[in-house]
Amino acid sequence: MYSAKIIGLGKYLPKDKLTNSDLEKMVDTSDEWITTRTGIKERRILKEKKGASFLAYEASLSALKMAGLNPKDIELIIVATITPDMPFPSTGCFLQKHLNAKNAVAFDISAACSGFIYALITAYQFISTGLYKNALVVGSEVLSTVVDWKDRSTCVLFGDGAGAVVLTRSKEKTLLGSYMASDGSFAHLLMIPAGGSVNPASIHTVNNKLHYIKMLGNELFKIAVRMMIKAAQESIKSANISVKDISLFIPHQANERIINAVLERLSLPKEKAYININRYGNMSSASVVIALVEAYEENRIKKGDILLLDTFGAGLVCGSCVLKWA
Ligand code: ACO
Repeated sequence: MYSAKIIGLGKYLPKDKLTNSDLEKMVDTSDEWITTRTGIKERRILKEKKGASFLAYEASLSALKMAGLNPKDIELIIVATITPDMPFPSTGCFLQKHLNAKNAVAFDISAACSGFIYALITAYQFISTGLYKNALVVGSEVLSTVVDWKDRSTCVLFGDGAGAVVLTRSKEKTLLGSYMASDGSFAHLLMIPAGGSVNPASIHTVNNKLHYIKMLGNELFKIAVRMMIKAAQESIKSANISVKDISLFIPHQANERIINAVLERLSLPKEKAYININRYGNMSSASVVIALVEAYEENRIKKGDILLLDTFGAGLVCGSCVLKWA
């Protein structure tokens, strides 16, 4: 068995910002409501119809540059997304095409906001068995395309962006522990009801706005807190460490109040958390990887640090991992 470590990090955020005061002009909301209920001040929007693979491509170029690798060195590409370019082919295949990564196998993972953690753990498995040496793992979302911009209960929450990491075979063990779980009995709390094989696109689905995110936010909130706590505790346990060993907590950025509740229950001080929800809102699978990239850019991560990544999302799903930075 081999180990793997992250040697490249990259992100891409569209340049256009949508602020809370912009939203005040679009729906019946206020900067005060959004800020106090969610912690969000602004989010990025991809105005051009270029798709998740474009954001993924830009983030991947930065990650490959930092890793000092050529796209042809990559043998495995996994893209986590719930806003793929189209139902098929996979966004991973489009990314492979943009990069001209001819030697890679590419596929997508759909696990909503936990998608990047699922993809990262999957890539680790492939490298640890010796099947592949270099992997590119991406979280990329264009949630602005699936948001109902007239629904104030959801449109204030989401944004667009992508983050990428390059993983390579290593001697040091860096994935110290992990945990993934799902509970499909809560699927109804957060979904896009149409556009799949149950409700294929029709005039009826379009007229009824069934291609947009439908969410029971209040119910989701409580379960999200519970699932994130459980996922964090289980991955800490599997890593055989204690909460005190954690140098930095990098959570999914859905709501600052959810993050605060999880911090409190884990007895982690807020200074140990990386939070950027104010700038970007919830970018689903891209949130946790962009937070990881920005924490690194801001020198919040150094060699030997123990990072706890923790996510939940539609499904419902949760995923967490403990990484030792090498
Ligand atoms: N502006 C002003 N008022 C609003 C807005 C808004 N944008 N949205 C809702 N309200 C109103 C409601 O209509 C309600 O009014 P009422 O009391 O007169 O009926 C009031 O505010 C309170 O609404 P709640 O839904 O109870 O507000 P809550 O405090 O629960 O906050 C929120 C809502 C932010 C959505 C919260 O429930 C939440 O964050 N839930 C979790 C959502 C989440 O994490 N989703 C992403 C999962 S990740 C993924 O996989 C994509």
